[in-house]
Amino acid sequence: MSQILAIQGSPRGERSHSRRLLESFLSAWQDSAAGRDVVRREVGRAQIPPVSEAWIAAAFHPAEQRDARMQADLALSESLIGELFTADRLVIATPMYNFGVPSGLKAWIDQVVRIGRTFDFDPEDHANPYRPRVLGKKALIVTTRGDHGYGPGAINAHRNHADTYLRTVLGFIGIEDVTVIAVEDDEYGGQSFADSYGRAERALAELAGSF
Ligand SMILES: Cc1cc2nc3c(=O)[nH]c(=O)nc-3n(C[C@H](O)[C@H](O)[C@H](O)COP(=O)(O)O)c2cc1C
Repeated sequence: MSQILAIQGSPRGERSHSRRLLESFLSAWQDSAAGRDVVRREVGRAQIPPVSEAWIAAAFHPAEQRDARMQADLALSESLIGELFTADRLVIATPMYNFGVPSGLKAWIDQVVRIGRTFDFDPEDHANPYRPRVLGKKALIVTTRGDHGYGPGAINAHRNHADTYLRTVLGFIGIEDVTVIAVEDDEYGGQSFADSYGRAERALAELAGSF
């Protein structure tokens, strides 16, 4: 039995290219073998709250000493982290927004990257203080962009803080095996967008069996 946790980052519904690509990838993935399960977590069209002062206080409080109020402050974080640990694969579909990720996806990240849950911190070990805890999983990032040239070595690579940032965050909690498939030129439309979209569709179809 294999399970994908699918994170949907776009605020757009049917118009969303990243959402459409995600759904066709998930169908192909499920069709390619038995026992493949998908859990969807909407973060683009749902309100994932930003972390608050109370959340931070609770997260940094020793787990066994948290009172009911603190546990309530961390309840959503706990269930999002539970979803992440339960799945053995993670797929994040997201547009690039202002060179980074949409705020709903950022809020999800802040809820799941949590000390003592998805990573540990050892202040005695200055050289290597972080210990990732989300081990043995792999991830796929399906990302769409209005402009082009955000890939490694390309003209806008230095402006890309979207999938590059996701790679950093996922690696930090222990997910090192990350594939990125990107569509560019949404804002230009026409043939360049159609070509880019077609390449991503083919790459995703090819990956579906083996992911
Ligand atoms: C608020 C906002 C910010 C955006 N910022 C960028 C950007 O920094 N760079 C870029 O190439 N495209 C940017 N875009 C374009 C989107 O990344 C692009 O339209 C993407 O395909 C939308 O994904 P979706 O179809 O899944 O919603 C932005 C779009 C919006 C609405």
